[in-house]
Amino acid sequence: MPTLLRSAACVLLLSAGASAAMAADVTGTLHADRPGPVIAPELYGQFMEQLGTGIDGGIWVGPDSDIPNTRGYRNDVLEALKELKVPVLRWPGGCYADIYDWRTGIGPRESRPVTLNRWWGNKEEHNAFGTHEFFEFAELVGAKTFLNVNVGTGTPREAMQWVEYITSPTNSTLAQERRRNGRDEPWKIDFLGIGNEPNGCGGRMRAEWFADQFRQYVGFIVPHGGATIIASGPDATDPEWTRTTMELAIEHMDAFSMHYYTLPTGDWENKGPATGFDESQWLATFERTYMIEPMIQEQVAIMDEFDPEGEKALIIGEWGTWYDPTPGSPGGWLQQQNSIRDALVAAVNFGIFHRNARRLRAAGIAQMVNVLQAMLLTDGPKMVRTPTFHAFRMYRPFQGATSLPLELESPAYGGLRAVDGTAARGTDGKLYVGLVNLDPREGKEVTISLRGVEASGVVGEVLTADAIDAHNTFDAPDTVRPRPFEGARLVDGTLSATLPAKSVVVLALE
Ligand code: AHR
Repeated sequence: MPTLLRSAACVLLLSAGASAAMAADVTGTLHADRPGPVIAPELYGQFMEQLGTGIDGGIWVGPDSDIPNTRGYRNDVLEALKELKVPVLRWPGGCYADIYDWRTGIGPRESRPVTLNRWWGNKEEHNAFGTHEFFEFAELVGAKTFLNVNVGTGTPREAMQWVEYITSPTNSTLAQERRRNGRDEPWKIDFLGIGNEPNGCGGRMRAEWFADQFRQYVGFIVPHGGATIIASGPDATDPEWTRTTMELAIEHMDAFSMHYYTLPTGDWENKGPATGFDESQWLATFERTYMIEPMIQEQVAIMDEFDPEGEKALIIGEWGTWYDPTPGSPGGWLQQQNSIRDALVAAVNFGIFHRNARRLRAAGIAQMVNVLQAMLLTDGPKMVRTPTFHAFRMYRPFQGATSLPLELESPAYGGLRAVDGTAARGTDGKLYVGLVNLDPREGKEVTISLRGVEASGVVGEVLTADAIDAHNTFDAPDTVRPRPFEGARLVDGTLSATLPAKSVVVLALE
């Protein structure tokens, strides 16, 4: 249900029954007998850009580092990412993709040029992490690859040659150069993004111009082994852009990409702090998070007009919270703390993605390490898992699961439903239910009637905290961490759960 309609229903429920001061009941029905679309694992994808310490220091320390590493990649980060079963990694940007010259990132590291990262603080990039390092890293993580080629300052020839270098099994000069640089077998590009935010940092293009550029690029790029070819959308949703891209280029694409960031204030000059915020910013953060759903539906409605069979995918290339940077952090490095609020934002987004899984088939949270809504924060040899990491880990069984309708009637929290939820049949055959209680003060009793479910037991995990900005630090890494959930019961085809305030709960019915 679109957010605004849902909000109206919440208000009615509230005035008809429960008092705002009491812990009100949430009721619902889970229809396991009405399976919906499969939740593409790639909806749990990660975005990593050459930006600040997102890669340098956060992922890559080099083989000579004192920080324990595997051929230059941090061991602690690799281990943590394996816990998430990362399905796909996107690189090199972001805005950086449209200033990236792939030739600066191949060959002996000591002779790679130093370039300036004009988008992100003019940092000197030593290009130690380049094409080989990205594809090798993806192999170590066990993830698919999502490569963005440069349209803003690049040429179709450069993109064509890069893709040949990466994917060609032939004896072409470019494939031989790859072999000389240490990689015999070609790699697979699973997703190939043409440009990034072309209306803004990707070249200030108009939709018509980008559509023509897109057509030109895909006419020359031939990834061996195939790839999902993605046409980039603007830096916010713009239905006219989507329509123009569909009109002029739909037959050349496999997917269309949109981006959406949650800013608590909605103001790019003053986004709101990552910690030390009050309850009004807590609520505003979720109001702005839910705004993604009507945007997705708007994109889908336009795509449905041009592609009623639903062959072309919608991809959310970038999503997540964007706060004021950590005070004292270098300009343009987009460093921010990550709290229990971020974990709930992630879980709300997962539910939205599942509800729209028919056409929404990949997404990338921005960004994986040390940048924006990160999974992991590092400082020299130290590393900490964020609350968002834990949300991704808890929702892992939803990757590749079959979505199931879960209808919930919830009391309101502000203009939103206090409790949101999602359900699916996992690839292991178990039924999974994810629940989020946005109310930071009150727990909620949830009662769900199960249709078409044969299960006799329920186990689960809960992520919650005392304070609305509770977070993990290098000195206190487990302030926010999942714990076994004892508050769920399964009796006579009814699932009951007592959700703590500000919590994420994932249940498995067996
Ligand atoms: O994730 C940070 C930036 O946000 C990306 O580089 C860009 O695509 C978006 O505007």
